[in-house]
Amino acid sequence: MAKTFYVTTPIYYVNDVPHIGHAYTTIAADAIARWKRLKGEDVFFLTGTDEHGQKIERTAESRGETPIQLADRVVKRFENLTPALDITNSDFIRTTEKRHEKAVVEIFERIEAAGDIYLGEYEGWYDVRNEAYITDLQYEEIMSLPEDKRPHVEKVKEESYFFGLSKYGGALLDHYKKHPEFVQPSYRMNEVARFVEGGLKDLSISRTTFNWGIPVPGNPRHVIYVWFDALTNYITAAGFPDDPERFARIWPADVHLVGKDILRFHAVYWPAFLMSAGLPLPRAVFAHGWWTVEGEKMSKSGGNVVDPYQVAEEFGPDVFRYFLLREIPFGQDGDFSKSAIVSRVNGELANGLGNLVSRTLGMIERYRGGSVPAPGEPLPADDDIKKGAIELSEQVEKAMDEIAFHKALSAVWDYIALVNRYVDDEAPWTLAKEGKDERLDTVLWTVAQSIAVVSIFVHPFMPRTSGEILKRLGLGGMKPSLEAARSWGIVEPGLKVEKGAGLFPRYGEKG
Ligand code: MSP
Repeated sequence: MAKTFYVTTPIYYVNDVPHIGHAYTTIAADAIARWKRLKGEDVFFLTGTDEHGQKIERTAESRGETPIQLADRVVKRFENLTPALDITNSDFIRTTEKRHEKAVVEIFERIEAAGDIYLGEYEGWYDVRNEAYITDLQYEEIMSLPEDKRPHVEKVKEESYFFGLSKYGGALLDHYKKHPEFVQPSYRMNEVARFVEGGLKDLSISRTTFNWGIPVPGNPRHVIYVWFDALTNYITAAGFPDDPERFARIWPADVHLVGKDILRFHAVYWPAFLMSAGLPLPRAVFAHGWWTVEGEKMSKSGGNVVDPYQVAEEFGPDVFRYFLLREIPFGQDGDFSKSAIVSRVNGELANGLGNLVSRTLGMIERYRGGSVPAPGEPLPADDDIKKGAIELSEQVEKAMDEIAFHKALSAVWDYIALVNRYVDDEAPWTLAKEGKDERLDTVLWTVAQSIAVVSIFVHPFMPRTSGEILKRLGLGGMKPSLEAARSWGIVEPGLKVEKGAGLFPRYGEKG
């Protein structure tokens, strides 16, 4: 049986509610999952929450809750985000679930059996906010920052289990060399490889100075380090260790999507744990960039944290999804601003796509009583639109293979511009006036076909809009597929179309 395509998001800490950074990765993963389903692939798409660790324990304490009360409350905000943004995740994992504890204990024991875990003492700095051990070099960097820019780090000195990471440097570098696609975008690979080349130290993988975590098997005075626990979620949900048949079908992940700040955990620690446990490595880790908001760093203290529910409410989930994936190349940083959203809605969505759909369906209503006509013999201009659709499908495929959403979308919009020009050139209104009926039929049919194609290629990004266009074309409920898009025969003569209201509202340019 063919391997299931497996895409993941990071699992989000439940110390705080979701912001657009969380929505971003989840939307990106959803676009990939929907794209693969369009291609007919079997997809497993995982997201979830990271609920253990010192940060969660402290946040709960400060709110007078137990950690599990905090997690149970905040997790709903993450779970509800998926319907609010039309996310089609296959599973939602919480690290406080029993199935996950089992997987963590199992991988810990396998690594221990491989001789890669020993008891020692950790003495050094710890960054609770990022749940990260700070190396001496990082500490020097932190101390060279102005005082108000320094992340808070604490001195830790405690007994700890260590993972023998240092011995995996060579194997990791080998892996990167053999699989340059393991870290994407490619410019991130250098950064990861340089870090490994600098020499790896063994990694502390347990803590004793708080309780909120999974106990170390055989020594419950220790809880397992939250990143060791969290990274394991990706195999838990794939059926590790109890369902080997399912695990073999789903694992390894095809791509872990992560923010650039947590690349090291995914591209260095995680593959080393898996190597030690004798498990296959994920095929790729893709690190995306960070959003600023109206030009400023997004932060609680800055009071500018953007609530994804609010954006979805104000602009609709499709516009939100479109903006995030179109505005910047996936991998780079970008700025989130209302004026940028408004300008994309007005220009690309309302004028570009919305206008094409409404003028075309309007003409089918006006000249053909709302019924798609049968085409006559195509002329070269019609063939160009068909050829354009095939080229579009190749361009989108290539862009999606690179996880370059902006390229895929820009190819779709080039096609929309091409079809809009074709309508202008063929001027159906003149054909109608001059009674050139067969030519008018052909042009209207061709444009209807092209809109159906567009609706399929926008599906991964704007599922509602895609469904709405198909509905207006008389194809409501049709399951979009790449095969259909390539057939150039989705829209059959006789379909009843409906122009309906504008697909996108136009906003005042000041937002
Ligand atoms: N729990 C860990 C991940 C464990 S995965 C095994 C974690 N959680 S988080 O909730 O703090 O962050 C989740 C993601 O949000 C990270 O990928 C991070 O890059 C992303 N973002 C946080 N702020 C962001 C922006 N301003 N912009 C884009 N993404 C941002 O880390």
